[in-house]
Amino acid sequence: MARPLTATIDLNAILQNYRYAKKLQPTCKAFAVVKSNAYGHGAIEVSRHLDNEVDAFAVAAIEEALALRDAGIVSPIMLLEGVFEAEEWQLCEKHGFWAAIENDRQLGWLLESQAKIEKVFVKLDSGMHRLGAEPNVAEHLVTTLKEGGQVGEVLLMTHFACADDLSDITTLEQLAYFERVRQAIGNIEVSVANSAALMKWAIPESGWIRPGIMLYGISPFAGINGRDLGLLPAMTLSSKVISVRPLKKGDKVGYGLSYEATEDHQLATVAVGYGDGYPRHAENNTPVEIDGLTGGLAGRVSMDMIMVRCLDAAIELEIGQEVLLWGGNVPVESVADCSGTIGYELVTRMTARPHYRYHTNTQIKS
Ligand SMILES: Cc1ncc(COP(=O)(O)O)c(C=O)c1O
Repeated sequence: MARPLTATIDLNAILQNYRYAKKLQPTCKAFAVVKSNAYGHGAIEVSRHLDNEVDAFAVAAIEEALALRDAGIVSPIMLLEGVFEAEEWQLCEKHGFWAAIENDRQLGWLLESQAKIEKVFVKLDSGMHRLGAEPNVAEHLVTTLKEGGQVGEVLLMTHFACADDLSDITTLEQLAYFERVRQAIGNIEVSVANSAALMKWAIPESGWIRPGIMLYGISPFAGINGRDLGLLPAMTLSSKVISVRPLKKGDKVGYGLSYEATEDHQLATVAVGYGDGYPRHAENNTPVEIDGLTGGLAGRVSMDMIMVRCLDAAIELEIGQEVLLWGGNVPVESVADCSGTIGYELVTRMTARPHYRYHTNTQIKS
């Protein structure tokens, strides 16, 4: 192995976080949301580790579901965005996929295909205005599917726009709206909660929860990190110092010379950049750890390298020292804060370039 950049994924942490999610709503079944390559953590590796345990997986679309089946995953898999083309319903039947449905086009394709589908989730737009049907369309979808006999169980789902903001009553309004439609429809199982909703809001007691980000130990809330919520962060991104130089007060660093030394200090160059997924918008002083000591980013992030300083001036920097970019004492949420984004984006947009290592060293609590 040449370049020392490694993303280390703790698969037991993800399993533990899934169990934690289920304990929060013990009466519910839980999807493990592994869309977008399990939020950058490796959908196949993560799903293989969880396959014996989960009630079902959820992905965005059929390509992701097929990749999991090809990799030997046997649990049910739900397509959160439903089908995009008529032919997909046959594949859903063949591979045992479940799907969301939100419009008459998807319904027409399903009826024409005569495919038998175990579960279909009719998606209601309860206020987010992204996907989901109006109440009358949702009722019509439910009735047609129930009468049609092709679908084993029809459920009603929705998605929250602001569940991560505890001061915003939109979630209560969405819940009340959803409940009115659910009652008008009558006897139907539901699925409403993402990580934020299931951790902090009073959601319906039965049905299906849909935790995503919390499985990876990352907080959906601003100002609080995953560990403080009782989660185990699953990804550690680490690299090494590849060059060291002394800087004099007034020396400037990197593209655009956007960092200026306010005193004499050493500067380390580290093998990681935006070509790996490290955020280019990370500001000066974004936290890093060098050999276990607090450090900060100095200058603009390049494609393959960053420059950092150690805040402990007494420490001699050396080529080969370990640098922690996130994980452990450097929460990915803090790096995201310093980069104008959220933890979700940092892990999800990791590229294939770092070395990926998987382990199961963390002791699982049952
Ligand atoms: C429909 C749906 N359900 C559940 C989730 C999981 O959300 P989170 O990662 O915030 O738990 C997502 C993620 O975007 C989603 O789109």
